[in-house]
Amino acid sequence: MSLQPVSPISTRPQGVLFDAYGTLFDVHSVARLGETLFPGKGQAISLMWRDKQIEYTRLVTTSNDGAHYQPFSVLTRKALTYTLKRLVCDATIDAKTFDARMGGAVEQLMLQYDHLSAYPECHAVLQQLQALGVPTGILSNGDLGMLMAAVNAAKLAPLLDHVISVDEVHKFKTHPLAYGLGEKKLGVSASKIVFVSSNPWDALGAQWFGYRTYWVNRNQLPFEELGTQPERTGRDLSDVLSFF
Ligand code: LAC
Repeated sequence: MSLQPVSPISTRPQGVLFDAYGTLFDVHSVARLGETLFPGKGQAISLMWRDKQIEYTRLVTTSNDGAHYQPFSVLTRKALTYTLKRLVCDATIDAKTFDARMGGAVEQLMLQYDHLSAYPECHAVLQQLQALGVPTGILSNGDLGMLMAAVNAAKLAPLLDHVISVDEVHKFKTHPLAYGLGEKKLGVSASKIVFVSSNPWDALGAQWFGYRTYWVNRNQLPFEELGTQPERTGRDLSDVLSFF
């Protein structure tokens, strides 16, 4: 963790945007349910599911200028189907048999996304930002339906000024149109907004776009090796307050 000195007023950010999944919302419950449904495989399922989900967002954003776009909830479900075919059942299974055998598990795991808990420090950090008069929001790949379900389940709605979904521009992060939504909605340039993410690739994309960035490195992972670092790094959401 690196704690930096308090910013002078001139460099004080005018807003904070948070990534959703893994940053505000703890996605561990997904792995736990995966383990309950398929003992011994929960961790592997949740890792492959997440990787495939993000891979699909990149595929549909970069191929044919976004012609194959599908909302995050749809891609998430398709990534789960892929994962269960790879790790649990026969990879060449036909769609009807898959639905008969795995449909219940798919529904249960997808439902989990709507009931994620917020990380323990989340409410206090958002409350302190609110007390400081700092506009806050979510800027996420998730579509609005799934985001609002998670926001409401975690009782975060009164603490957020904006819930922004990239679905509006049909481009997933790290596309500039996706990050651009944040400055558009907050009405200030990215250089005056702190973007917070626990996903290293997302913190990097946001830094490249022009945001000030705070990378939440909960699990002591290495940052991306592409030559750019986030402005600040910490172990949980709390140190975002060091920008103020
Ligand atoms: C999001 C994913 C990338 O919320 O975590 O945008």
